[in-house]
Amino acid sequence: MNAKRRILVTAALPYANGSIHLGHMLEYIQTDIWTRFQRARGHEVWFAWADDAHGTPIMLHAEKQGKKPEDLIGEMHAEHERDFLDFGLSHDNFSSTHSQANKTMVERIWQGLKDSGAVHSRTIERFFDPQREMFLPDRFIRGQCPKCGAADQYGDSCEVCGATYEPTELVEPRSMVSGATPVMKKTDHWFVSLETFRHSLADWVRSGALQEEVANKLQEWFGERLRDWDVTRDAPYFGFRIPGESDKYFYVWLDAPVGYLGSFSEICAREGMDLEEWLAPGTDTEMHHFIGKDIIYFHCLFWPAMLEGAGIRRPTGVYAHGFLTVNGAKMSKSRGTFIKARTWLDELHPDYLRYYFAAKLGPGLADIDLNLEDFRARVNADMVGKLINIASRSAGFIHKFGAGRLADQLPDPALYQRFTAAHETIAADFEQRNFQAAVRRIMALADEANRYIDEHKPWLMAREDGRADEVLAVCTQGINLFRVMMTWLAPVIPATARAAESFLNVSLADFDSIHQPLLGHRIEKFKPLLTRVETDQVERILTASRANLESEDDVSEDPEEQLGLAPEIAFPAFAAVDLRVARISAAEEVAGADKLLRLELDLGGPTRQVFAGIRGHYDPADLVGRLTVMVANLAPRKMRFGVSEGMVLAASGEDDKPWLLSPDSGAKPGMKIN
Ligand code: MSP
Ligand code: ZN
Repeated sequence: MNAKRRILVTAALPYANGSIHLGHMLEYIQTDIWTRFQRARGHEVWFAWADDAHGTPIMLHAEKQGKKPEDLIGEMHAEHERDFLDFGLSHDNFSSTHSQANKTMVERIWQGLKDSGAVHSRTIERFFDPQREMFLPDRFIRGQCPKCGAADQYGDSCEVCGATYEPTELVEPRSMVSGATPVMKKTDHWFVSLETFRHSLADWVRSGALQEEVANKLQEWFGERLRDWDVTRDAPYFGFRIPGESDKYFYVWLDAPVGYLGSFSEICAREGMDLEEWLAPGTDTEMHHFIGKDIIYFHCLFWPAMLEGAGIRRPTGVYAHGFLTVNGAKMSKSRGTFIKARTWLDELHPDYLRYYFAAKLGPGLADIDLNLEDFRARVNADMVGKLINIASRSAGFIHKFGAGRLADQLPDPALYQRFTAAHETIAADFEQRNFQAAVRRIMALADEANRYIDEHKPWLMAREDGRADEVLAVCTQGINLFRVMMTWLAPVIPATARAAESFLNVSLADFDSIHQPLLGHRIEKFKPLLTRVETDQVERILTASRANLESEDDVSEDPEEQLGLAPEIAFPAFAAVDLRVARISAAEEVAGADKLLRLELDLGGPTRQVFAGIRGHYDPADLVGRLTVMVANLAPRKMRFGVSEGMVLAASGEDDKPWLLSPDSGAKPGMKIN
């Protein structure tokens, strides 16, 4: 083994205003496997982590819930940490960017940037909400798209025509916070000049710290002048105040990555370590960041520039991963594939997901699909059918014929050596984050181990007199091969490894211990370490996720709902509404809702469930078979009784009585209306 390395590892800090979902878990499991692997190689490793607690969305979210931001982030912190511990993550500290340690670190880095002359202030104009008296982030301004005229588009881009623009170009902009028309207002902001760091950044990009695809992307960005980075936000804001200013705060993306070091400085204080040894440029300690591909810019431009300006070492590595899809598509609330960490834990062992992610994660930026059917089949076949099976087939005979004591010799040392010969290759796979390759190799060896047992058939020998020693020998071989594979897989499936440790009476924490086989060693009685994943467990995760759809957030952030406005729209916005002829194929009253009918609508093949507020005016039986008109592409909405997947069109007047629309006779279900 090579010399002992000193390694700081981080994962991106989750925002403190939402629950952890499986997309987050992809990254956090990736980080944890790498961290545990490094520890198993005998290195000194610290996994420093935190919640990302600052920013306008968190401030407004807290306000909407009638809470102080400090209380909101406190609650979320506890929830996040529970999820993480239950998923077996082995971070050494889970702090918050709103900590004193982080504030100290932010101020130090800021001072360093100022001293290096990379910071300047200038007066700019920004949108301001005159009613709420606050400057508005782009995402909190909506209006008509300047290119295509679509109504209700975000301040930075149009979802209808795809155009990007400045919020100032929006036609009839509105504040999503109050509904007021924003006005332009002057304010002084601090900027970091990234151009100052162009040359050192370019060196760093070529230093091998980045994946090749990422390094190439950065070269592209370097092709142009690097724009100054606006690191200021005006009050009201939830964040750290900029020293020397009374009503200005650091932008959340300034103090967020500093949070890695804020958290690590808490570890140093706790462990009596010298933080400065880790921060000095030229240090031989290492700093590795795991991130999603959406936040490369922040980690590969802003962050190293900040470190450079403050005279602090730059990252040894920044590793971006792709996005998680579920069943081949973006996680979707209505399909039940927006799965929270907790929903998973309520049904299934965390190691199943850890194993599946490992089996799919490579070193690159490719998206990763969690196909739930493939997941179930793979986990059952590999973990239960191959891996655990070796132990369960061998253990009983060790107790029957050896009183729980393994034989003193391996009957097939060459086979054992074929396993250990893969050791450095497997370690290199882990090192390079090619977990997929490591798992593939380990499973190929598991096949070999099972083949060995199949060939020697200990269960047949056990029935013959005088062959007890042979049975014991074969099973000793089996247990030893199992132990080697569990050692390699311990970073991937730590809880299962812990159970295997009690069974084997040996620690699996040291990768290199496998070179010494377990001989003449006592093992415990075998208890099933994992059971098969059943279809209904997976089904229940989807059902529970559908029921989870968080109505509060989705609804209240809708400006129309907040403001009661119906602004004029242009043609493309109208054309975006998919109106269809539908046949009502079923209709029934909804228990507990005196206004609702549950309708099933046939679109000439696909069907939709819609909850319509027309109960009392129509007898459900009369509706069945009749044609009507529906909005077929309305985002599904979770109601107390189920998911409503569209809307039927009805007119209503003063008497509040709805009149369901019908097409003329001759129209067919599924026809498009335009
Ligand atoms: N708070 C910032 C990160 C600051 S780091 C100094 C942030 N938070 S996040 O909660 O939105 O995302 C945290 C991490 O999870 C990011 O690396 C992000 O890429 C990752 N993921 C969030 N959704 C994801 C998927 N669906 N799939 C894979 N990773 C995803 O960004
Ligand atoms: Zn547009």
